[in-house]
Amino acid sequence: MSIEDEDDLQGMLAAGHVVRTALDAMRAAVAPGVTTAALDAIAERVMREHGARSAPQLVYDFPGVTCISVNDELVHGIPSRARTLGEGDLVKLDVTFEKAGYMADAAITVPVGVVSPRARALADCAERAFQQALREVRPGRRVRDIGRAIEQEVHRAGFSVVRMLQGHGIGHTIHEDPMVPNWDDPAGEAVLTEGLVITVEPIIAMGTGDAYEAEDGWTIRTSDGSFAAHHEHTLVVREGGPLLLTVAA
Ligand code: CO
Repeated sequence: MSIEDEDDLQGMLAAGHVVRTALDAMRAAVAPGVTTAALDAIAERVMREHGARSAPQLVYDFPGVTCISVNDELVHGIPSRARTLGEGDLVKLDVTFEKAGYMADAAITVPVGVVSPRARALADCAERAFQQALREVRPGRRVRDIGRAIEQEVHRAGFSVVRMLQGHGIGHTIHEDPMVPNWDDPAGEAVLTEGLVITVEPIIAMGTGDAYEAEDGWTIRTSDGSFAAHHEHTLVVREGGPLLLTVAA
């Protein structure tokens, strides 16, 4: 969507606030021995307290409130009481909420206890690639400029961009135009315009970056079993620089 008026702006800020609040609470609870279902329950409580709803449930009938993916799982992991986090794991928390007709989406990668230096470097790289991409977010730039910035940063660190997934427009529903690839996609000629709401979300892997959908029909995993990291925020394209909706002001 594109922000048309003050109602749109306030609506997106409110949706972003709930997402951020849930992610903060979940991150604080990450520890060895905690199940992914317990983290999901924390998000659900925050969601209900704020009168929000799970967008993946609403739009795709996803079997969880949030997506929680561990290690070689990239995205769309199903929260489970059978999945207990262990020391050295890398967990990706991905929260998309709807509130009053507006949707916001964000994801963070959280180390569980002490992780390997390479896992830490991967998580840091996803965040750094996100920050580099922000410099390209302004009216007149193309989505491929965002992708190029991400790809350069990821390759510099010796990691891979996962091409199966990408950023996207968002607002009235989860996935809207334009697609926002995490690489310099020749097809990525869509131009960023004032007020456009998109996600920027590097999804990267230690190995080749090839991925597949697991037998559960939801979870996307790396083909080579290598760890993955994901860093995402919803933002508004503005002349003066992007307005981040899912980051504390
Ligand atoms: Co997203």
